[in-house]
Amino acid sequence: MDATTIKPSPTLSLPWKTRILLTIITTVSDAAVRKNGTINRRLLNFLDFRAPATPKSAKSVTSHDITLDKTRNLWFRVFIPTKHANEPLPVIMFFHGGGFVFLSPDVLAYDAVCRRFARTVPAIVVSVNYRLAPEHKYPAQHDDCFDVLKFLDDDLDMSKSMLPKNADLSRVFVVGDSAGGNLAHHVAYRACGFDFKRLKVAGVVAIQPFFGGEERTDSETRLEGTPIVSVKRTDWTWKAFLPQGEEFNRDHPIVNVSGPNAMDISKIDFPPTMVVVAGFDALHDWQKRYYEWLKKSGKEAYLFEYPNMCHAFYIFPELPEAGQLIGQVSEFIRKR
Ligand SMILES: *[C@@H]1O[C@H](CO)[C@@H](O)[C@H](O)[C@H]1NC(C)=O
Ligand SMILES: *[C@@H]1O[C@H](CO)[C@@H](O)[C@H](O)[C@H]1NC(C)=O
Repeated sequence: MDATTIKPSPTLSLPWKTRILLTIITTVSDAAVRKNGTINRRLLNFLDFRAPATPKSAKSVTSHDITLDKTRNLWFRVFIPTKHANEPLPVIMFFHGGGFVFLSPDVLAYDAVCRRFARTVPAIVVSVNYRLAPEHKYPAQHDDCFDVLKFLDDDLDMSKSMLPKNADLSRVFVVGDSAGGNLAHHVAYRACGFDFKRLKVAGVVAIQPFFGGEERTDSETRLEGTPIVSVKRTDWTWKAFLPQGEEFNRDHPIVNVSGPNAMDISKIDFPPTMVVVAGFDALHDWQKRYYEWLKKSGKEAYLFEYPNMCHAFYIFPELPEAGQLIGQVSEFIRKR
C-alpha cells in the first residue's frame, strides 16, 4: 500500500486503545512540568514502564546494555537479531523522541520499536541514552549521541568488542523520531566533518523530526488540540533545551534547521535522507520545509507522508501504519 494514495480524512480517527494511551502520555507529561521550569522526574517514574535488557532471545532478538561514561550516565542498549548471526548487518544508531526532555531507551515503547527494527530490517540497533533537558542543555544531547559514534569507531578490539562481529560499521544509519529526528540530522551533519577510521554514515531516517521557529506555521495553528504536540508544549521544550542566553533564539540552526542561520550542506556529502511526516502532526510544516531544504541543497531526500496519522504514531504497534513505516525504513536501509 502506498501512503501517498490514501485520501486524508477530515478528522483524526484512532482506535480507542491508542487514544487512551495518548491521553495518559500527554496528561502525565504536562503534570510533570513544574511552574519554575524544572521537571518532576519522580512523578514520571511512577508511570514509566521499563523493559530490562534480554540477554536471552525474546522475539528473535537479544539485548544488552553498555555504559560508556558513568559521569554523564551515557549508555546504550544493543539489539541483536538472533537469526542473522552469520551475515554482515547494517547498524542503526537510534535516538528516541521526547522533546529532549523525556524518555529513554529502556522505556517499554522504545524498547519494542528497536526490537522491531532489529528483527525486520534486519540490523544491529544501538539505542542511545543521552542526557535530558532542562537539567542538561544543548549541546549535551547532540554531544552524547555523536560520542557514541566515535566510541564505536574506536572500538577495534574484536575480542572485547561492544558490538557483535557481524556489525558492519561501514553501513551506519542514524534513525530517530521527534527530538531523535533532530538528533539524527545534526549527528549526521557532524559526522560529515569528522574523520572516522572505518565508520560511515550511509543514511539518515528522520521520523517526524522536531524542528521549529518563532513563526507559527499553518499546521501549528490548524492542528492545535491534536495529540502530543502543541505550540505551548514546543515553546516550553525549546526554552528548556536551548542554552542560557539563547532560550528564545528560535533561529538557532539546531531549531530552525532550514532558516536564516541554516548550515550550508550544499557542498558536503550529506547522506541520503528519509523524512516521514503525518497529516495530523502540528510539526508537519516544519518537517516538510526540512525535506524541501534538503532537496534545494541538492541532497538525496525521500518524503513519506501519512495523511491520517498524528505525532509519534509509529510507536503504537496496534496501528497498521506503524508496521508500514517499519517496512519502509527497512527497504530504505536494505537498498543502501
Ligand atoms: C523548582 O520547584 C521544585 C519543587 O517545588 C523544587 O524542588 C526545585 O528546587 C525548584 N527549582 C528551582 C531551580 O527553582
Ligand atoms: C525560520 O525559517 C523559516 C524558513 O524555513 C523562516 O520563514 C522563518 O521566519 C524563520 N524564523 C523563525 C524565527 O521562525
